[in-house]
Amino acid sequence: MSAISIRGPYSGGRNQRTLIIIGASALIVATIIVTVSVLVTRSDSNVELTLEEKVHQILEDSPVIDGHNDLPWNIRRLAYNDLRRVNFSEDLTQNAIWGKDDSTHTDIPRLRKGHVGAQFWVAYTSCTSQFKDSVEQTLEQIDVIKRLVDKYPEDLQFATSADDIENAIANKKIASLVAVEGGHSMQFSFGILRNLYAMGARYMTLTHSCNTPWADASPVDAKNPILLPESDGLSEYGLRIVKEMNRLGMMVDLSHVSQRTMEKALNHSVAPVIFSHSSARAICDHHRNVPDSVLEQVRKTNSLVMVNFYNGFIRCDGQRANISDVVEHIEHIRGVTGPDHIGIGGDFDGVDSVPEGLEDVSKYPDLIKALLETGNWTDEDLKKLSGQNLIRVFRAVEEVRDSLKGQEPEQDAIKAEELEKYKVNLTCITAKFERLQPQQLLKTRREAPAELQLREL
Ligand SMILES: *[C@@H]1O[C@H](CO)[C@@H](O)[C@H](O)[C@H]1NC(C)=O
Ligand SMILES: *[C@@H]1O[C@H](CO)[C@@H](O)[C@H](O)[C@H]1NC(C)=O
Ligand SMILES: *[C@@H]1O[C@H](CO)[C@@H](O)[C@H](O)[C@H]1NC(C)=O
Ligand SMILES: *[C@@H]1O[C@H](CO)[C@@H](O)[C@H](O)[C@H]1NC(C)=O
Ligand SMILES: *[C@@H]1O[C@H](CO)[C@@H](O)[C@H](O)[C@H]1NC(C)=O
Ligand SMILES: [Zn+2]
Repeated sequence: MSAISIRGPYSGGRNQRTLIIIGASALIVATIIVTVSVLVTRSDSNVELTLEEKVHQILEDSPVIDGHNDLPWNIRRLAYNDLRRVNFSEDLTQNAIWGKDDSTHTDIPRLRKGHVGAQFWVAYTSCTSQFKDSVEQTLEQIDVIKRLVDKYPEDLQFATSADDIENAIANKKIASLVAVEGGHSMQFSFGILRNLYAMGARYMTLTHSCNTPWADASPVDAKNPILLPESDGLSEYGLRIVKEMNRLGMMVDLSHVSQRTMEKALNHSVAPVIFSHSSARAICDHHRNVPDSVLEQVRKTNSLVMVNFYNGFIRCDGQRANISDVVEHIEHIRGVTGPDHIGIGGDFDGVDSVPEGLEDVSKYPDLIKALLETGNWTDEDLKKLSGQNLIRVFRAVEEVRDSLKGQEPEQDAIKAEELEKYKVNLTCITAKFERLQPQQLLKTRREAPAELQLREL
């Protein structure tokens, strides 16, 4: 009935102890068996994880942070920046306009399927707007990015920092950042640059396909260049722009610039830089890709190359590319930089031809799967590639900004000679960016053009 009656009055101390020891031992053995079997079951289930499940696990932990998506440009091109004309919660492959356009690859359902956790949305304006309305167009594109984020609050969350990206991801939202593509968006004005930062821009690509008065673009490196270098990569003023971007905490993006520009910017920047959408020149010898010598500098400076998927940068032989070709670029870059300096910048919505298997923003998991299949990527390295490297570099840029708190903003205007030297067409620009001495101003006030007189008043 009770413990006492089991032991009985004659069971004695030794027998009781033996019983206790046997009982305890049985308990320990049972515990060990249960533990071992649980561990075995766990490792069994690990073995049984399909590749797809493993990919899912990696991207749940570290969702894709893509460096470059031109959706805002398509909203301008196809919807005149009127968000009532298109519903991004829909499957746009079925849309009469968007579904038939080769350069559209993005909608919210596909971003979700693609495990996208953060996107740099690009406020791009074409080189034909340089010295004309490039700044106006850039402001309109930043505005449309903000309206897009406001219109889809269930899915998108505005972000301007590494912490913001992590908060949005923790919130199950897609962190949405503003990027500016092309130095012509700031013309040659520190005031405009600072305002772009204030509006949320967290990287600026120093050039698009045209030179600016202070930086040379990649076509100067083309086999039959139609563009000649004018600033020895980066002029003295261009170096100051890099310095001011460091002070602001705006990432310097070197996709689209010439090799000399890359080298000088990498040398001069005190913060790491990024290539928001470029691949490996050793695999496909295109001036938009990054040469190995520059990849070395990327490694030494803790910088980042986010691989571009555009067919023409992945395969230079004119053939249709596939995921294996993209894997080759990624593995080449890793071979030079190690696993800490590679990311993804698909260039979706900015190109009209993408590799087989990477047709749109839903396909990032297939790329991770293909990398897993090579057998030479650890889960940790794939998480760095998908997003953690960008977070690390972004944080380093923010730390440099914080360390430069005491530094004065750049205030020098570009010199008139620099504009003349580069044959800048100032027909559409009324302000004269000369640095006139006060005496000169006094001397010339009477003859000076009206706008200069007004400025002096
Ligand atoms: C947009 O599409 C989603 C998904 O089909 C739908 O639920 C929503 O009502 C649509 N919004 C408008 C304004 O049509
Ligand atoms: C970059 O810096 C290195 C070392 O200081 C120097 O040897 C090299 O000439 C520099 N390159 C450029 C393009 O500034
Ligand atoms: C990509 O194409 C190459 C041939 O160019 C082929 O060998 C390879 O298997 C293809 N990869 C995929 C993932 O289809
Ligand atoms: C990755 O694995 C493939 C075979 O799956 C091999 O050919 C390649 O050299 C490996 N790359 C690296 C960088 O180890
Ligand atoms: C300068 O730009 C204006 C306006 O676009 C154009 O009419 C003029 O021909 C250009 N001048 C030169 C020298 O290119
Ligand atoms: Zn681009």
